[in-house]
Amino acid sequence: MWSYRNPVDVRFGPGSFARLADVIAGRRYALVTYGDTFFRGLASRLEKEAGAPVLVIDDIAPNPDIALLEVQTARFAGLVRPPEIIVALGGGSVIDSAKVFAAARGDFAAMDAYLKKRAGAETIAPWPLVAVPTTAGTGSEVTCWGTVWDNAGGVKFSLAHPGLYPEYSIVDPELMIGKPRDLTVQTGLDALSHSLESLWNRSANPVSMAHAIAAARGVLATLPLLVNDLRNVELRGRMARAATLAGFAFSNTKTAIAHSLSYPITLRHGVPHGIACSFSLPMIIRSVAREGGICLEGLQAIFDVEAQEAADQLETFLNGLGVATDYRHYGIDDAEWRDLIALAFDGERGQNFIGRKDALLAVAGGGGRKHMAVA
Ligand SMILES: NC(=O)c1ccc[n+]([C@@H]2O[C@H](COP(=O)([O-])OP(=O)(O)OC[C@H]3O[C@@H](n4cnc5c(N)ncnc54)[C@H](O)[C@@H]3O)[C@@H](O)[C@H]2O)c1
Ligand SMILES: [Fe+2]
Repeated sequence: MWSYRNPVDVRFGPGSFARLADVIAGRRYALVTYGDTFFRGLASRLEKEAGAPVLVIDDIAPNPDIALLEVQTARFAGLVRPPEIIVALGGGSVIDSAKVFAAARGDFAAMDAYLKKRAGAETIAPWPLVAVPTTAGTGSEVTCWGTVWDNAGGVKFSLAHPGLYPEYSIVDPELMIGKPRDLTVQTGLDALSHSLESLWNRSANPVSMAHAIAAARGVLATLPLLVNDLRNVELRGRMARAATLAGFAFSNTKTAIAHSLSYPITLRHGVPHGIACSFSLPMIIRSVAREGGICLEGLQAIFDVEAQEAADQLETFLNGLGVATDYRHYGIDDAEWRDLIALAFDGERGQNFIGRKDALLAVAGGGGRKHMAVA
């Protein structure tokens, strides 16, 4: 028995930013975005079409940290006329921050208790959201969760609430053409990771699988072309489509072991999210070579070869984009690597993984490789 649900109304295509004012539909809105020139230009265009926002939060930093989110949330508390809708114009950090503001509605203490202890779930009634992603990566435009980082505490939290599915998502590839190469690679690999993570997942189902296959094939076919042709709108469109489809895939499964493994790597070693959650994918494919079901069906549809060869192909793909697949490259030594893998299985996301710890450790390196017995 399985089920699939995703309520987000998606408007996709080059130029679709022009439809943002229509979906705001005269409601009082707060705008969450970055502060640089390109985004200020988009904000003033929106203001002409939809009127002035009641509040602009434009000091969003990559990987939203809980301390800054608290300060930013307080700005909503002072508003005489609160927003009726939150517009998130930016990458995953903007959309996830907007989800925190929507859920908190100016009350960070309640938000904090919900985030850390799942307390007060019944009182969380988020403002509606419109997500306008400017990266092709996180899929946050079609999920009901967001990642909140606590750098001081060395942990990350996951905000999740069914009311946090955006009401609308406007996915306009033209907004993505200015993304530099590194960001394009990082975010594209995040999307690839979301699609594969939804396959080796306890909640995988035929709909999530169909989205995952289309998404992964899209990233594998497009990203190597796009990195040499960054301003190509057609290729940007294919990546944006793949990232949103990956979002549809993992919106019903959540992520799994690669993401669980990635969080301490980002926190301790400063590795960007999209790299931290993808350099381990070939290793994970090797470890699930014996799993059947949707995982096998999906991997075969994507790679069209046996799992071992698929892993080799993916390794070549990543290395070709300049992404190292050896953990030592990221400053992780053998002992830490094996600890991180063990830890990853205990994490909330790690428990979604269908694979086995011994199988992963057996292919992980760092002393765990199965050596041929010497006669
Ligand atoms: N909610 C989810 O389901 C989910 C899934 C994966 C990752 N995440 C989170 O999302 C965050 C990462 O988001 P991201 O990878 O989209 O990047 P981001 O939002 O952190 O942005 C990274 C940088 O890219 C720049 N940028 C964004 N769009 C641009 C554009 N069009 N042109 C030029 N520069 C641009 C920003 O100014 C910023 O400096 C992390 O916190 C990660 O944990 C969330
Ligand atoms: Fe991710």
